[in-house]
Amino acid sequence: MKIFNSTKSLQQHLKKEKAKNKSIGFVPTMGAFHKGHLSLMRKSRRENDLTIVSVFVNPTQFGPNEDFKKYPRQKKSDDLLAKKENIDIIFYPSIKEMYPSGFLTYIEVEDITKHLCGQFRKNHFKGVATVVAKFLNIVKPHTMYLGQKDIQQAFVIKRMVQDLNFSTQIKIGETIREKDGLAMSSRNAHLSKTQRKEAIYLYKSLKMAKQRAQKSTIKPKRLETLIRKIINENTKASIQYVTCIDGKTLMPIKHLHGRTIIALATYFGKTRLIDNIIFNAR
Ligand code: PAF
Repeated sequence: MKIFNSTKSLQQHLKKEKAKNKSIGFVPTMGAFHKGHLSLMRKSRRENDLTIVSVFVNPTQFGPNEDFKKYPRQKKSDDLLAKKENIDIIFYPSIKEMYPSGFLTYIEVEDITKHLCGQFRKNHFKGVATVVAKFLNIVKPHTMYLGQKDIQQAFVIKRMVQDLNFSTQIKIGETIREKDGLAMSSRNAHLSKTQRKEAIYLYKSLKMAKQRAQKSTIKPKRLETLIRKIINENTKASIQYVTCIDGKTLMPIKHLHGRTIIALATYFGKTRLIDNIIFNAR
C-alpha cells in the first residue's frame, strides 16, 4: 500500500497507473474506519483495478461549535485496516495542502442543501462539495463510492457531479449496521453505555414507520410524530429533525407516494447521530 501526503506526488503516481489503462475507484473518508468504510473499500476493490482512499478531516464542513477538534483521528489503525483490505493507495493531505493560504473558491449546491442537516449545519454542504470537487480533480477516479447513511451528502454530491460535468460515476453503498441495527458511524465511539443502548431506537423507529407506511395510507406528519414518540419514550436523545422526503428529489413531501426517504438527526448528549430509511410507499 502506498501512502501519499502531497497532491503532486499522488498525481505523478496516478499518471503512470492510468497510462496502464487501469480503472480507478475512490473512497473519500475522514478516517476512523468502521465496517461502513470497509464495505465501500471492498466494493471499489471488486469493481476496479486500483482503489484510492482519502483520509482528511475537512475543516470547512464543520461549524464553529461542532466536533472538528474531537473528531476521531486513528492513523495507525486506519493504515492497518486499509492494508488488510488490500487498498492500493491512501492519500492523507494536510489542511495546508487542501487549503493553501489565499484559498478563495467554494462550491455551493442550492435548494437540496437548505433543509434536513443543511438547516442546522449552515456551511456544511458547501465544505463537503468543495473538498469532494477538489478530490475529484486531483484523483480523477472512474467511480467514487459513498455511503447511504449520509443520504443528503450523497444527493448533494451527485447533483454537483452532474451540474459541473465531472466524469466520475457515483455509487452509493448501503448503510452498514451493528447487529442491533445502529448505523455504523465514527461518532458512535463517543456514546456512553446507556446512550449506546438507547441509540438502537433510531433504526427501530424508522423500521416501524416504514412498516406503518406500507400497511395503509398515512400522512408524512403522522409518521414523523410516530418516530418522535418512539424515540422520546425510549431515549434521552434530543431530536433535531425527523422528515419524510421524496426519494428522487430529496424535497419534503405532503403525501407519501412512491420512493420515500425518512431521515432523522438526533443528539445523544453532545454526539450527533443521523440515520435514514428508504422504501416504496403504498
Ligand atoms: O462522509 C465523509 O466522510 C465526508 O463528508 C467526505 C465525503 C469525506 C468529505 O469530507
